[in-house]
Amino acid sequence: MIGRPAHRLEVVTSTNDEAKRLLAEGAIEGTVVVAREQTAGRGRRGRIWHSAPGNLYLSVVLRPAIPPAAAPPLAPAIGLAVALAIEEVAPVTAELKWPNDVFVGGRKVAGVLVESVVQAGIAPEGGRLAGVVVGIGINVGAEVPPELAETATTLAREAGRGVRREELEAALFGALEEVYRRFVNEGFRSLSAEWAERDRLAGRKVTVQRASEERVTGVARGIAASGALRLETTAGVLEIAAGEVT
Ligand code: BTN
Repeated sequence: MIGRPAHRLEVVTSTNDEAKRLLAEGAIEGTVVVAREQTAGRGRRGRIWHSAPGNLYLSVVLRPAIPPAAAPPLAPAIGLAVALAIEEVAPVTAELKWPNDVFVGGRKVAGVLVESVVQAGIAPEGGRLAGVVVGIGINVGAEVPPELAETATTLAREAGRGVRREELEAALFGALEEVYRRFVNEGFRSLSAEWAERDRLAGRKVTVQRASEERVTGVARGIAASGALRLETTAGVLEIAAGEVT
């Protein structure tokens, strides 16, 4: 069950670090780490995640019985759960930017950092998935740093009223539970229609930085049943399993 047990900390470097430590010690699936503040909060691609008190910072330990190569669609699945939880507690519409950024009012309100822990193994499979740490940061009410004012927002600002972190956290655990269960039992395809309803990139020209560091430009054509981004390029429609839209 997601949210049990819950380790609640005042300050931590990063809840993902703490959750990884717990995962290595054998923590059960659903274990969460919630912190009021992070001193070294991080985003994808080594970016800093500003982590002043007033927002929600948490990480979840998951142990899906899937090979490491099947992990990428977990990212958009978690993004959908965050969007559903936000809409449950605040009078806003949440949009998704592949793979897992959540936007409200045209600005980013939440980010997800999925880190896989792989046990070394024999090639070609390249090891077993020991577990996954899913880090979620939601801007609830802490002031956005001035340098991010154009691109980031908070739920309080978009809702025009305060949003209680406890309420959002409870909604998030419920949404994660439901979405993760569907992901494990039926695959990402069971979530793709709901994801597509919130897709903010569909029809837009975008550049995608793939894991291989190669950059491809094209028009976003929605999300595939596999969770991959469909990108229409001059060479045809590519399905990109993992990457970053710049
Ligand atoms: C991104 O959009 O780049 C991902 C941001 C993820 C931030 C969260 S906050 C809780 C967890 N701990 C971290 O250090 N990062 C994630």
